[in-house]
Amino acid sequence: MPVKKKVKMSELLDYPHDPDQPIAVFDSGVGGLTVTAALRRLLPTEDIVYLGDTARVPYGIKSPTTITQFACQLAGWLLQYRPKLMVVACNTLSAVAMPQLEAMGLPILGVVEPGARAAAALAAGRTVAVLATEATVNSGAYVRAIHAIDSSVPVVQRSCPLFVPMAEEGRDSSDKIVNAVAYEYLEPIRRLRPGVVVLGCTHYPLFRDAIISAVDGGAVVVDSAEETAWSIQRLLKRDNLLSSRANTGTLRCYATDNPERFMKIGTRFCGEPLEHVELVPLDDIVAMDLQFALP
Ligand code: DGL
Repeated sequence: MPVKKKVKMSELLDYPHDPDQPIAVFDSGVGGLTVTAALRRLLPTEDIVYLGDTARVPYGIKSPTTITQFACQLAGWLLQYRPKLMVVACNTLSAVAMPQLEAMGLPILGVVEPGARAAAALAAGRTVAVLATEATVNSGAYVRAIHAIDSSVPVVQRSCPLFVPMAEEGRDSSDKIVNAVAYEYLEPIRRLRPGVVVLGCTHYPLFRDAIISAVDGGAVVVDSAEETAWSIQRLLKRDNLLSSRANTGTLRCYATDNPERFMKIGTRFCGEPLEHVELVPLDDIVAMDLQFALP
């Protein structure tokens, strides 16, 4: 996977239509590895380049202006790999920055739309509960995306901020603190007896069982990560861009801070050992801001 250096951003915006180019995946940190894991399970022969902004995580408590600026920088840096597709594997980035990224003409897919589509299809008149970060909830992106499909679906939202650090600490659904926190956060949701619960944050799939038991009403769970992997498969198939290789694809990870921690924690999020994690200085990312590439 050769890296093209010192090229003009405008040249990079001209996308390759080549099945053997990698898929570029980005997130605020390790969380997007849950999307990567789903993608690796479904399309194991694809090469993936992953960028996690561990220097500036969490994004879920930041303003839309900052989140959009970071999104343009991460996407800009990844363009040097000439990806055939970009995946915004972060609910917060997808909820806030998708319009800006799409306006740049990138072949790009976020996690909100696939999750919302699945939720709308499963609702059948019942309430959909979206669990996400503060920034995702405030953006209203899931509500808009669900209502664009079916405006009659009742949607409620709840942010569960402590889930992010608890997942990164290595806690799981059997943990007492996780269950207590889930029970407390989801109390207002539990009372509504939702029919569908959307895991609208990259970290929440790690607490799937604790969330199911805290909601306590037999709700169907929609995992945005899995839905996104299905969407990626459909998109690549439609455009004849599925990898033609027979062997397992590579997974190269880049982090803007502490690659050792990324490797340790990321292995759990990804469900496979991470063999290639490299540090990218934050200055390199900031210098690739796509907003400056626009005419
Ligand atoms: N990746 C983020 C999301 O899915 C969670 C972590 C963060 O707040 O940056 O919303």
